[in-house]
Amino acid sequence: MPVLDQSYVTNGSWKPDLFKGKVVFITGGAGSICSVQAEALVLLGADAAIVGRSKEKTDKAAKDIATLRSGAKVLSLPEIDVRSVQSLKKAVDKTVEELGRIDFVIAGAAGNFLADFNHLSSNAFKSVVDIDLLGSFNTVKACFEQLRKNKGSIIFVSATLHYYGVPFQIHVGAAKAGVDALSNALAIELGPLGIRSNCIAPGPIAETEGMDRLSRGKLDEIKHKVPLQRLGTKQDIADATVYLFSPAGSYVTGDVLVVDGGSWQVSQGVGAADYPVSIVKYLNAPKGGKL
Ligand code: COA
Repeated sequence: MPVLDQSYVTNGSWKPDLFKGKVVFITGGAGSICSVQAEALVLLGADAAIVGRSKEKTDKAAKDIATLRSGAKVLSLPEIDVRSVQSLKKAVDKTVEELGRIDFVIAGAAGNFLADFNHLSSNAFKSVVDIDLLGSFNTVKACFEQLRKNKGSIIFVSATLHYYGVPFQIHVGAAKAGVDALSNALAIELGPLGIRSNCIAPGPIAETEGMDRLSRGKLDEIKHKVPLQRLGTKQDIADATVYLFSPAGSYVTGDVLVVDGGSWQVSQGVGAADYPVSIVKYLNAPKGGKL
């Protein structure tokens, strides 16, 4: 079921039809954060292409999002792996064929699991870097002609993990640091073509796959460490997305919009509640050391 509804348009901060005639292409579009980014854009007039790996999940997300606005076209593009630029190119061609164009790109596909260094194989590290970083590069590569034609805008879904050290997140932190660097360089190179490139860095967002994994049942403890004293909502990320794609963000590029209630400003972030006691236990646990 969608998270947002018509009240996002009628009682929200944004005007109806803000994105009428625009098309957004979203990798990871069936995921817990990216699907709500899609919901907001569709409610405000855009059509959308939801790109994902699982057929069932991607089809369902596209179908649910399409119910939000009468006449909305929401395309499901399942069985696409962002690690393959050819696979993405097929998804882009299908989007242009069915929806006519691509104006906005959200590179949101991500892989994550918790693993300490001793239990993180070289291949496991590579898998996450390939999905998050190479996948983000491939997404822009496949969409480039449409972005150039339509003076489009890109948002990468990044993180705050790499602003400090976060245990069990070596692979994701390294990948997201790369994503920020990719976005910054694209802003410089593609700016003269009228293409903008920015990151959104979500902090602790409630009811997301990432937060469920990272919080390890300590949501209350984490909430009280957030300067704004609450977890973020998926709508907080959707609002940041609308701002960056809207004309209000038209002079913003090469930026990282951190949406975290001030969390990363707290020493060690808010996620490392039992560090360093737990880390030694994990590093020394059996079956580690795999290359
Ligand atoms: N701890 C340690 N290693 C792990 C692991 C875990 N929890 N989960 C996977 N790995 C390792 C695998 O053992 C494998 O390494 P190996 O070859 O040395 O055994 C490597 O990671 C790749 O696993 P595989 O299942 O082949 O990768 P995949 O490409 O199919 O999947 C993942 C990629 C691992 C990132 C998977 O978690 C995924 O697809 N996630 C998508 C959803 C997601 O995580 N979204 C994030 C939202 S925040």
